[in-house]
Parts: sequence; structure tokens; C-alpha cells
Amino acid sequence: MVNRRKFLHYGALGASALIVSPKRGWAIRPNSRPTDSRIEVLFDEPLGTISPNVYGHFAENLGGVLYDGIWVGEKSPVPNVDGLRKTLIEHMRKIKAPVIRYPGGCFADSYDWRDGIGPSEKRPRRTNFWADEETEKAPANHRYDPNAVGTNEFVHFCKLIGAEPYLAANVRSLPASAFYQWVEYCNSPAGSTTLAEARAAAGFTEPFHVKYWGVGNESWGCGGEFTPQEYAVEFRRYSTWLPKYNDSLSLIASGPNTDDWNWTREFLAEVLRKGPRELHRIYGMALHHYAWNLSRGKTQDWVTGKGDALKFDSVDWYELLREGERMEGLITGHWQVLGEFDHDHRVKLVVDEWGPWYRPGSEATPGDLLEQMPTLRDAVFSGMTLDIFNRHPEKIAMANCAQLINCLNSLYLAHEDKFVVTPVGRVFELYASHQGGLALRTIFSAPNSHYERDGTPASFWGLRGAASVRNKNLTITAVNPSTTESRLAELTLRGGTVKEASMTFLTNSDIHAHNTFEQPDVVVPQTKALSVEAGVLVVEFPPATVAALNIQLN
Ligand code: AHR
Repeated sequence: MVNRRKFLHYGALGASALIVSPKRGWAIRPNSRPTDSRIEVLFDEPLGTISPNVYGHFAENLGGVLYDGIWVGEKSPVPNVDGLRKTLIEHMRKIKAPVIRYPGGCFADSYDWRDGIGPSEKRPRRTNFWADEETEKAPANHRYDPNAVGTNEFVHFCKLIGAEPYLAANVRSLPASAFYQWVEYCNSPAGSTTLAEARAAAGFTEPFHVKYWGVGNESWGCGGEFTPQEYAVEFRRYSTWLPKYNDSLSLIASGPNTDDWNWTREFLAEVLRKGPRELHRIYGMALHHYAWNLSRGKTQDWVTGKGDALKFDSVDWYELLREGERMEGLITGHWQVLGEFDHDHRVKLVVDEWGPWYRPGSEATPGDLLEQMPTLRDAVFSGMTLDIFNRHPEKIAMANCAQLINCLNSLYLAHEDKFVVTPVGRVFELYASHQGGLALRTIFSAPNSHYERDGTPASFWGLRGAASVRNKNLTITAVNPSTTESRLAELTLRGGTVKEASMTFLTNSDIHAHNTFEQPDVVVPQTKALSVEAGVLVVEFPPATVAALNIQLN
């Protein structure tokens, strides 16, 4: 049944089967199945440049991320570059990985960087922060850190990829001197200090020029259980003096968990008690948000509230997207709180952990802690999240998907000689061309997706995305979250004309579709040329799709 609202909506959009070409006049668009959606790109409403670092990554010494995922060892039969998994390096180059955060996460606040330098065979073995969570199935090096990977190996990994390292310093269990000496180890000029010589002895004469430094991690929790005021005092102390060596250091303060507005407010209030210049110490405020609660409001319990990565119905599909969609409000909300203290908005948001978090049970490699199998649902989730970041370029300086490999929202899964790109990794391929682009305000109009949530009619939006332009290339990414309905959208460029267009998209008739070591090509991008018919570009987005339109402009 078509109600009045629907009639008006379809009536209006259906008429767009008629031409809207000021140059050519009115005409009938061929194959005119009425469009139900519209995408309007407004070239004269730029939003800002999308920082490439929004497409950043996170690699914690946790489960199979480092040992097995990234590091296989120099003597391994697995193809490697100085012990680092070669296939991973190649894939990360392909997506132009801009920045990688390391060594944690919670691990960071129990890590002593001094254990990870010097000859590998002399490095100590330490109990990993995550040891107690590990099961018997996990290899020993997940529980007892051999320190085979340290600063040298990690920075080398970044340089091989062309990414910037982002190091998280230990605020909970090391003194401030360990932090400034880590900076000294990384950045002091060749031959200048004892630590520069130690670096050179490992084969790295030239400084690493590490720019991004986290001052602790989740200091409200595993990073020390601080109150925001207590952490602000620590932040001031740890950031009071750090050697710069002509590099500018960008310090990232441990920020709020999800919607903890109080953390942001109280932290800033305390930092500023010493005066307004204190703000200059802070480059970014870290925000973490995981979509984990699929209980549909029944519980807030961290264990029982979680859903399954593979066994889910369409309600769970939308529920995950709902949880992920909160990101937009978190960004605007924390931005508003920042603005109460920082009127010029010098301090940006750094969303250095984001992604879905499911209960255990779907690991590609049994025994890998916090590993889960990303499906098409996670691809749609990730596309939606990246588009949220793309729509707020002036607010987001960096974001880091949690995590890179073998953990949570992995782009890649690997075990020994096996390697696969997950649907999430495919999304990063699709979205790479947004990096450094000028974001343009873009209006998506589409009917909602409707479903039943525990016996009650529920709805979710029907089509959303983001656009950016660089030179004559326009990238529009979009997500159709509906599990059942395709969207037929008419594209209008207000201020540009199309020369050539194609669409690369990810979808599958099964919403659970995923890539495994045995079947790596279940969710892979498909590309099709888009034709401009009588001045109108009409694009079909199949159900459960993440898409990138690559448009060459005249
Ligand atoms: O990404 C896994 C963990 O989640 C990180 O170590 C921690 O920062 C967060 O709670």
C-alpha cells in the first residue's frame, strides 16, 4: 500500500526519469525504471580536506596480530622482508596505508620499549598484558612476549609500506623519562646521543622522525583507571618536556570511551587550569567506540551483550549498523565539548580505535585472542563509518581501524603461509581515493530500510555516503544498508559534469558472506562502467552494498 508520504516521495523522484539537463533541455531517460533515491554533490560547499590518516590502522601486540600476522621471522619459509610478512606489506601499499598505531591498546601501558631494542637474542621475554585472557590453544609467544618485534622492526614495517608510525607511550607503569628517552631513541640525530648510537647499531643510523605519540591509552580504564582530572595532571607532566630535534611532535591525549562527555570536559578543564597555552600541547583527543552491544537494549553486560560474527539474522545486521552509526553523534558531541574550551578548534579528534566487537567463536585460527571473522556486514559497517569520517574532515585528524590483522575488524587474516583479504580490507581498497581529497557536501535522499525489530516495525536510513574531489577526479562512496531492497539513485553534480564514470562495489546475495583461507574470493569488488544517459547518471545500488563511484570530470 502506498501512503500519502510515499506517494509524494516516489512521485517526486520518479519524475526525474525526465531529464534535468540544462544544456540539452528536456528528454526522456531510456530504461526509465523510476529512481527512488537521489545523490546531489554540491561543489561550491567544500567541507575541508580529508586527512589521509583517517584511513589509518592499529596493530597491538595482542593475540595473533604481531606474532603470526605481521611478524613471521627472518628464517620463516613464509615470504618475508626482514622477518615481516611480505604479502601484508604489498597489500598495505596498495591501500596507501598512511599511519599505523602500535604497540597498543591496553598492551601499551605495560610495555617497556627498552625491552624491544638491541640484538634480538638478548631481548627479554615478558608476560604480555593479555596473557591471562589467552587459552591453551594460543602459541606461547602470544602469552610471553619474545620482544622479537620492537621499535626498529615496527618502524621498518611502516617505512616499507610508506606509512607513518604512531607510537603509544606507557603512562600507567613507566616514568615520564622513559617516554622522552623513547622519543630520543627514535628521533635524535645520527651520532648525537647514546640512544642514537644504539639505533645505529641496529642498522638505523638516520632518525625515525616519529611524529605521532599517544600519551597513554584508555587512561580511564586499562591505562591506569585515572579520573579525567588525574589523567590531565599526568598528561601535563608527560608532555611538559619532550625533545623535538626540529620535528614537530603531535601528541594525542587519551580521550573518552564512546559517549563519556564528562571525560572530555573534565580533562580539558583540568589541563587548562594551568592556563590557555596548555592547549597547545594537544594535537588530538583520542576517541574509542566499539559496536559490541547487539542485545537490542536488553543488557549493558560486556560479555552477554555481544553478538556473533557469523551467526546473525537481519535484525542483528541492522542492530550492528545502529551501534556503529552512533559514531556521527559521538564526533559532533565531543567536538562541541572541545569547542567549549578550544574556541578555535586547534585540537582535533583522533578516533584511534573503532570497529565491531563480537563474542569469541569465529576465529580463522583457533586460539587467536579477539580474532573474529569479518563478513559483508562488517564491510557495510566499515564503509558507513569511513563515510562518517569523510563527512567531518575539519574534526577528524586521524582514525585507526581496530585492528589491522587477526583481531576484531581485521582487514587481513593470516596464519603461517595462509593469508586472506577480508571484506573490510576490500572496503579500504574501494575508499583509498578519498585520502587527501576535498570533501564536498553531498545530499543523499532515499526511502528508509524497513524491518521488524522484536515485533515492532523499525527503520534505518536507505542510502548514505560521502564525496570528495581531487583534481578532476570525484569519488563518491555510498552504502545501501538494506538487506532486501536495491536503490536506484539519480546523481546530480551541482557544479561539475561527468566525462567518464565507473562504480566498484562489494555485495553478495548472502549477508553472511566472508572470505576464508580456503575461499578467499567470496566478497571481492566488482567494477562496471556507468553510462550517462541523456545527461543523467543513474546508479543502482544492490541490497547490502558498499560502493565507490569513480567519476572523471570534464
Ligand atoms: O582493541 C582491543 C582493546 O580494546 C585495546 O587494547 C583497548 O585499547 C581497547 O579497550
